[in-house]
Amino acid sequence: MRIVAINSSMRKGRTYELLNNVVSKLPYDSEIINLKDYNIKFCLGCENCLKRDKCVINDDMEFLMNKILEADGLILSSPVYIENVSGLLKTFLDRTCKWYHRPPLLGKPVLLVATTAGSALKSVLNYMEKVVISWGMKPCGKIGKKISEKREVNERDIEKFIKALENPNSREYVGLIRLMRFQVQKAMAKNVIKIDKEYWRRTRLLEARYFYEIKADPLSQLIAASFGKFLSNKIGENVAQNSLNLD
Ligand SMILES: Cc1cc2nc3c(=O)[nH]c(=O)nc-3n(C[C@H](O)[C@H](O)[C@H](O)COP(=O)(O)O)c2cc1C
Repeated sequence: MRIVAINSSMRKGRTYELLNNVVSKLPYDSEIINLKDYNIKFCLGCENCLKRDKCVINDDMEFLMNKILEADGLILSSPVYIENVSGLLKTFLDRTCKWYHRPPLLGKPVLLVATTAGSALKSVLNYMEKVVISWGMKPCGKIGKKISEKREVNERDIEKFIKALENPNSREYVGLIRLMRFQVQKAMAKNVIKIDKEYWRRTRLLEARYFYEIKADPLSQLIAASFGKFLSNKIGENVAQNSLNLD
């Protein structure tokens, strides 16, 4: 089992320390990647990755994205900077834009880690969760630490992550909001970019109710599926009327 842990602080400070603490508790081969050691340029917004599946920038992003693709699990971390993730992490996330369109990490476990002087711990962890869910990942816990706190990482912090890694076929319960977000991604994939639709068809996501096998209550599934159909029709009409296709 191979775990990739990403530190997005510009220093090996508190976030790195917490990440190291998490990694030391895991019974797996783990690698901490300090993003600051890599060449990561800003996204140019050219949409080439979306339309042609190829980024025009030559830097270390492909290497880093492959590291995540090849890992069995991911630990993603950030310090809180001005109520948000670090600029370095945001720059990294912007460059993964094609993963929102063509999610490649279906059901792969992810653990989220953040540190702060005091504010925004919850919102930053929630933001990171939103991003990794859109990549198709299975969120398996959040570890947040204020700098005034003394607490060490404990078994409970990492048990869900370990369980998911050990039992890849275990089904988690997914609620309405996540089911609906999946439907939004699907509706876009169906109607806007040709290679997205091909990808969603090839990976059988087009007919799926979620990125991977889950448990969900029937009413939520019904609401999400109906919403998905409605949204897909609306986007389809809009794209046709305004020639919005990004092919
Ligand atoms: C540029 C910058 C912005 C920060 N913004 C916030 C903030 O909005 N709220 C907060 O509580 N702490 C803030 N902090 C404190 C950091 O979140 C905290 O010190 C964190 O543990 C630093 O992690 P590091 O040692 O891994 O770099 C900020 C620190 C820096 C350097």
